[in-house]
Amino acid sequence: MEKKSVRQATARGRRALVRVDFNVPLTDSGEVADDRRIVEALPTIHHLQTAGARTILLSHLGRPGGRRDPRYSLRPVARKLSALLGQPVPLAEDCVGMNALQATARLQNGGILMLENLRFHAGEEGNDPAFVQELAQLGELFVEEAFGAVHRAHASTVGLPQRMPSFCGLLVEKEVRELSHLREEPEHPYVALLGGAKVADKLPILNGLVGRADALLLGGALAFPFLAAQGKPLGASPTESGLESEVQALMARAGQNGTVLELPVDWLGERPGQKEVVACSADDVPSDVLLRDIGPRTRDRFYARLDGSASVFFNGPMGKAEDFRFTPGTREVLAGLATLAGYHVCAGGDSARIARDLGVEAAFQYVSTGGGAALEFVAGLDLPGLEALPDA
Ligand code: 3PG
Repeated sequence: MEKKSVRQATARGRRALVRVDFNVPLTDSGEVADDRRIVEALPTIHHLQTAGARTILLSHLGRPGGRRDPRYSLRPVARKLSALLGQPVPLAEDCVGMNALQATARLQNGGILMLENLRFHAGEEGNDPAFVQELAQLGELFVEEAFGAVHRAHASTVGLPQRMPSFCGLLVEKEVRELSHLREEPEHPYVALLGGAKVADKLPILNGLVGRADALLLGGALAFPFLAAQGKPLGASPTESGLESEVQALMARAGQNGTVLELPVDWLGERPGQKEVVACSADDVPSDVLLRDIGPRTRDRFYARLDGSASVFFNGPMGKAEDFRFTPGTREVLAGLATLAGYHVCAGGDSARIARDLGVEAAFQYVSTGGGAALEFVAGLDLPGLEALPDA
């Protein structure tokens, strides 16, 4: 997947629209809580600055739903970027219209400007041609640097590269290179350790991994529908409905392809409103217990699968990791992984943050800035933002 690189762009004096993924978590006081995505975009920003481009950064933050909402302003991000670059980066109040036109026109060679949240306009997520046109007139070339957003077919990720000379940024190149190890030719045994919630979103990913990975180890709420399909009790845990036939089909495909599906055999849970942690077997869950973390026998079984693996892909905690009572599943499995050799990849800011907070970030050789994008890429799906870029 060789794309035309930003290194090949003639950038001097030209206005470069650079799509970055500065969708970063903010603290309660509105400051950037994790600047990894900003730091990872710095090499491309430096490259363009040195090349004499006029750099215009485009990003979304959160899901404001097509309306201007100050809670989703990129102002804290512009402040953080200014601090990292050691120079003030102005933020235009809007990403289109007169304000944006004037701000981009004022840029000098080597200058950097940020535009306000793309998702303040419904045209962004709708990939509306009129909105694409408004964005396109702000620049002369496009650089895709938002790996975390290339799975979205939005105006800034698909509309722009279809309309103007386009290049792949250095971070996107790095992500594609690293994650291609797992997408194209993973060293086997290849194990995917997956948890968290949002089961419906993750089923296509699991489907893509069947036949690629040798084993899928499923924890957290992701395991619930699979256990339900085997007739196992889930106590009082809420489950996503309507997934039964998809889950059955996936289990059948895994069987046909020789992909092992490893599910929890025991759990830690709680009764609503009570502090006490309840340990139970996956065959015998009290009906009033909410399942919150994989149990010790499951941890051992997961570790046994990871031991001897050559490649590991991790996304999503094994339990409710924001509650200290239910961190052992994620912490112990990742602490075990940190002692093992192999190529271990962590996808997504949330997963990386959990690993860091639990002190087990050393488990990984590579941490991707993409969440959903990394999952889809590794699962072999086509990503619209990459498809839209010209080949090298
Ligand atoms: C992410 O954080 O995964 C990306 O920024 C995409 O955000 P989205 O899921 O709101 O499109």
